[in-house]
Amino acid sequence: MMKSQFKKAFIFDLDGVIVDTAKFHFLAWKNLAESLEVSFSEEENEQLKGVSRINSLQKILEWGNKSISEDKFNSLMAQKNEEYLAFVDRMSPEDILPGVLETLTYLKENNYPIALGSASKNARHILTKVGLTSYFDHIVDGNEVSKAKPDPEVFLKGCELLGVEPEQAIVFEDSQAGIKAANTAHMLSVGIGDKAVLSEADFNFEGFTELTEDTLKTLTNFKK
Ligand code: G6P
Ligand code: MG
Repeated sequence: MMKSQFKKAFIFDLDGVIVDTAKFHFLAWKNLAESLEVSFSEEENEQLKGVSRINSLQKILEWGNKSISEDKFNSLMAQKNEEYLAFVDRMSPEDILPGVLETLTYLKENNYPIALGSASKNARHILTKVGLTSYFDHIVDGNEVSKAKPDPEVFLKGCELLGVEPEQAIVFEDSQAGIKAANTAHMLSVGIGDKAVLSEADFNFEGFTELTEDTLKTLTNFKK
């Protein structure tokens, strides 16, 4: 039996890691930005990944040099979420990204503690839609944190609930903000997606299909 201080735990981001909801966020933000005549491309979108809904809208307004009333701000947030949820409504277990289920199954079978660490207030709803809730020992989402990524609060809460030190945590993230958060908290950061975009990560993979059992063992044995 391994001593608990050497035990590793896994924290998964949700959007863009477990499911490809990043594209739904992109479409909804793009529509909103265009309605305000603010230009919005993949490049701007990259800066919104992992960022809370409120901070995302603030950024779009800053980019367009726009100032709006509080009422308008709140109605835009509601409108964006409504549009986003219309996409989410059509989701099913088929939307789980390739390799994710295999990785979660392997980790569960090997008794690794697993948490979700997401900025999204819709995280629980999405996990239910795709049937993955039971894989997670703990879920920390946008309803439970006050400081958004790149602040590490969401991951630190995950560690606390899992009963591990930050140094024992391995974080899967598709966003620059999330990789920063994991690094700041001295966790092992694993970038899922474009290596050029996630160059600050300790390890990079295009997707979970690359994460074989041997690769997962390398991650759990790695000392940062
Ligand atoms: C994730 C996504 C962001 C999104 C944020 C809040 O971190 O990467 O694009 O803005 O969650 O999501 P929500 O579902 O609460 O609007
Ligand atoms: Mg993400």
